Amino acid sequence: MTNEARQGNSPNSPNPTAGEPHAACAQSDALRACRCRPLPGIPAQAMFPSAPEIVSAARHFVRDALAHDATGLHEDLVDDVRLIVSELVTNAVRYGTEPGDSVLVLLAVTDTCVRIEVRDPVRRRPRFRAVSQERDRGRGLFIVQALAECWGVADRPFGKAVWAQVAR
Ligand SMILES: Nc1ncnc2c1ncn2[C@@H]1O[C@H](COP(=O)(O)OP(=O)(O)O)[C@@H](O)[C@H]1O
Ligand SMILES: [Mg+2]
Repeated sequence: MTNEARQGNSPNSPNPTAGEPHAACAQSDALRACRCRPLPGIPAQAMFPSAPEIVSAARHFVRDALAHDATGLHEDLVDDVRLIVSELVTNAVRYGTEPGDSVLVLLAVTDTCVRIEVRDPVRRRPRFRAVSQERDRGRGLFIVQALAECWGVADRPFGKAVWAQVAR
């Protein structure tokens, strides 16, 4: 076994990725409560071939996984998590993949947090852009920022993971 595999750091490792939170959420009280560390346990995960249609499939996956792993979650929280997944998967399809690539979605739940992670094979990182009224673009990361306690990006051996955590 390679060191990478031993550390759970292979490209499709089932373990959540460590990663520094984005500076915009690094100082919040919620962050301190949430800690933004990879959560214990093996998360639910699903791999999708990159295509616009997978956004809806990823939303369904998250709804079903939450219904199975976290019964009793408030409906608003489930909606927030699904919206975050929509934005991150849309971005992974648009900017993080080429035809033939895959997108991996992981969902981990603990007593205090729901953590979403979306992995794609491109190292270039998301960055806030000026919101454009005409093109209806540039809102995704602001939505993630508004809904998540914290979020961030971590390099992976073949690409990156964009993650977000929501407090329960
Ligand atoms: N997974 C990603 N890989 C590479 N670049 C990304 C990714 N996600 C977002 N970006 C970059 O961050 C920018 C802002 O993303 P976002 O706020 O969702 O706005 P939009 O998707 O409407 O452009 C994108 O325009 C893109 O340049
Ligand atoms: Mg977007």
